Amino acid sequence: MRKLTSLFCILISLLTACSFFAPQPGSGGAPTLAATEMPALPPASALPTFTRIPTFAPPPTATIFPIKDYPDCSPADVQAYQPAASAEASKTQPNRSAVPTLRSLAEKRNLYIGAATDAGYFKTPGYTDLLAQQFNILVPEVAMEWEIIHPQPGTYDFKRGDAIVAAAQANGQAVYGHTLIWDLMLPDWITEGRFTHDEWVNLLCTHIKTLVSHYKGQIYAWNVVNEPFTDEGLLRDTIFLREIGPEYIYLAFKWAHEADPMARLLFNEHNSEGLNAKSQAVYALARGLRQRGIPLDAVGLQMHVWLHGPPTQQDLAANMQRLAGLGLQAYITEMDVRTQYNDDSPEQKLAAQAEIYRQAFATCLNASNCPVFITWGVTDAQSWIPGYTGHPDMPLLFDTKSAPKPAYYAILDLLQNP
Ligand code: XIL
Repeated sequence: MRKLTSLFCILISLLTACSFFAPQPGSGGAPTLAATEMPALPPASALPTFTRIPTFAPPPTATIFPIKDYPDCSPADVQAYQPAASAEASKTQPNRSAVPTLRSLAEKRNLYIGAATDAGYFKTPGYTDLLAQQFNILVPEVAMEWEIIHPQPGTYDFKRGDAIVAAAQANGQAVYGHTLIWDLMLPDWITEGRFTHDEWVNLLCTHIKTLVSHYKGQIYAWNVVNEPFTDEGLLRDTIFLREIGPEYIYLAFKWAHEADPMARLLFNEHNSEGLNAKSQAVYALARGLRQRGIPLDAVGLQMHVWLHGPPTQQDLAANMQRLAGLGLQAYITEMDVRTQYNDDSPEQKLAAQAEIYRQAFATCLNASNCPVFITWGVTDAQSWIPGYTGHPDMPLLFDTKSAPKPAYYAILDLLQNP
């Protein structure tokens, strides 16, 4: 009992000290770099598969993890890798548009508006101009996934990630790092790995510290843990939960923070933008991390939604507001709006889609704690949704010819006339 009381006191004092971890305004500005040679994307057949390990129900109290002392990961493993090349400032300004763009308007309001991208798209005519004109934050769609960046034990391949970071810096854009831990896009040596508990801890520590150290000072915010929950609000059965235990989550934040104390840190979820069992679990985990003094700055709300049934504006606003109550920011990290499963005309679908984007963006603008709004891709030609669902779709702000869609104008209009 005495132990419980003192734990409670520690939690309360940590809670009041948490503003220490709040993001520092203006500290995310990226230096500029000269673009390096862009690697080509692999053919579709070589792209990683998207299958998840079956889920089992972990104990409902799983979010209450113990805080234990763990040894740091072996410094030799981490230090064997060089930091990303420090780049020259770009002498030429990006090809800025004369008319207002999402980026130019968002910058006046101190907002990050961004898109997921990959280096293989940089050769598509007009693509890099569009990216530079419209967005001020980029996220590697897959380039920093474990399978790509750490394909073999002790072997890291930073080329694709570095190319995105270099392009962003050349255009004065920030980078949101995605992702340090996810149960998908893992290489076989991890999914089939046989290691002791201590080896798993060292392995995860090494992975996180190597990536975060490599990009130290170049990443505005890191998605430290992606999709840790099931839709029922239980911790997802991932290899890291099984092999390390629920404390893999707080350890990941601790390691990431140690490697780059200036990077904002978040965890990221889908289907938890409104109020439901999963967003309840997200909130509980966020509160638990904050109360324990773990460096958590934000929660990512993915926003992969459909024409029917996106979260209501009220629920999204309430969810953001309760996160603000914990001193946390809420980023919209992966928005796209699927238009399939609907018999309306294309024009009707585009109008309905624009309204969903408008409502989400308006909610973000009105929230006190939503400084980042990212779509999961730039044009409909590059969206992951057709490949993932097996059906054609048009989920993004620009069409397959890179022309702005009604959804784009809905956001532009809000930025012009809030
Ligand atoms: C998707 C990518 O867009 C695909 O290219 C890849 O094959 C699988 O992953 N939630 C996430 C993202 O956090 O990493 C996913 O991105 C989409 C769902």
